[in-house]
Amino acid sequence: MTESADPRHHPHDWHSDAYVEQWISQDLTDDERRPALAWVAVLFPGEVSHPVRVLDVGGGSGALAAEILQARPQAAVVLHDYSTAMIAKAAERSPASATGSPTAPPT
Ligand SMILES: C[S@@+](CC[C@H](N)C(=O)[O-])C[C@H]1O[C@@H](n2cnc3c(N)ncnc32)[C@H](O)[C@@H]1O
Repeated sequence: MTESADPRHHPHDWHSDAYVEQWISQDLTDDERRPALAWVAVLFPGEVSHPVRVLDVGGGSGALAAEILQARPQAAVVLHDYSTAMIAKAAERSPASATGSPTAPPT
């Protein structure tokens, strides 16, 4: 995986298409994380039909947002992430609902 040589920077390289691709390929979503994300998605109070509004900050490729939309079809989920690579993956997953506010990487 790509790591910044500058120790002031976090080792994750979320602005790299290749890093994001590799991170997603190694994500444990289907085997381990998906049940946990699904559990989070049903924690919202109120009736399932209630149109909750959710801001998923650092939402990545939209794994949690997808679970929320499955559990709460009336939900409006805004996914924010500063990685354009992640936003693109989220848009592939949920083209109708994925939105983002990609910003420039810190310098
Ligand atoms: C470990 S991934 C988790 C993604 C998602 N929450 C999930 O559970 O699948 C962390 C995400 O946070 C995003 N992120 C990290 N720092 C951020 C910041 N300052 N502003 C916006 N997004 C950020 C990264 O781009 C990455 O997509």
